[in-house]
Amino acid sequence: MNRVNDDALDVLFRKARTYGAWLPKPVPDAVLRELYDALKWGPTSANCCPARFVFLRTPAAKERLRPALAAGNVAKTMAAPVTVIVAYDLKFYDKMPKLFPHNPAMRDNFANNPQLVEVTAKRNSSLQGAYMIVAARGLGLDCGPMSGFDNAKVDEEFFAAGKCEDCGEEFFPAGHVKSNFLCNMGYGDSSKLFARGPRLEFSEACSLL
Ligand SMILES: Cc1cc2nc3c(=O)[nH]c(=O)nc-3n(C[C@H](O)[C@H](O)[C@H](O)COP(=O)(O)O)c2cc1C
Repeated sequence: MNRVNDDALDVLFRKARTYGAWLPKPVPDAVLRELYDALKWGPTSANCCPARFVFLRTPAAKERLRPALAAGNVAKTMAAPVTVIVAYDLKFYDKMPKLFPHNPAMRDNFANNPQLVEVTAKRNSSLQGAYMIVAARGLGLDCGPMSGFDNAKVDEEFFAAGKCEDCGEEFFPAGHVKSNFLCNMGYGDSSKLFARGPRLEFSEACSLL
């Protein structure tokens, strides 16, 4: 396997920051498709792929989100070219015949175990959200993830029912898609960054056994 170079690690992690201010530069839908086509390859347990992504990139869509946002997150979210709702489908297992075809029993393993479904959906959609952030950075985008919002309000507004405009089918069927976290996305204004917070040292966060 090839090791990526130092510049790549800087872009993905070491020099990447969390942004709250944005340059007036739009993010084309084609880039969002490129983003998904990269992040989708990140691993999930039994390849269950429970994350669902809603890209809010019009003022009208952003307004639907506004009432759910914590006060401190409103301005930066309204200004961001894109806000992603990273969500999870509690019926992700219905797609497992496609995603995990060599083990057809896997669908029923989940379908019969709601506790396993919940923990699997949350864990793996969080991972997929992290893959999204890293993939976005790889594509030259910046991110501002947020958990300061009312999940129930977002779920009611965006996942109570509905049709996907492009696919013409019920995409987020009522009641079983839930929000995990939000992520603003665009080209960040580095002149507005705060000093960076430190991280734990290896000896504080890791052990070698
Ligand atoms: C899951 C998650 C939730 C967050 N929620 C918020 C939030 O609600 N509002 C906010 O201003 N920042 C939020 N942040 C931003 C973090 O404070 C920020 O990523 C962290 O301090 C690291 O900053 P840096 O990437 O610039 O080093 C969140 C980050 C993550 C990953």
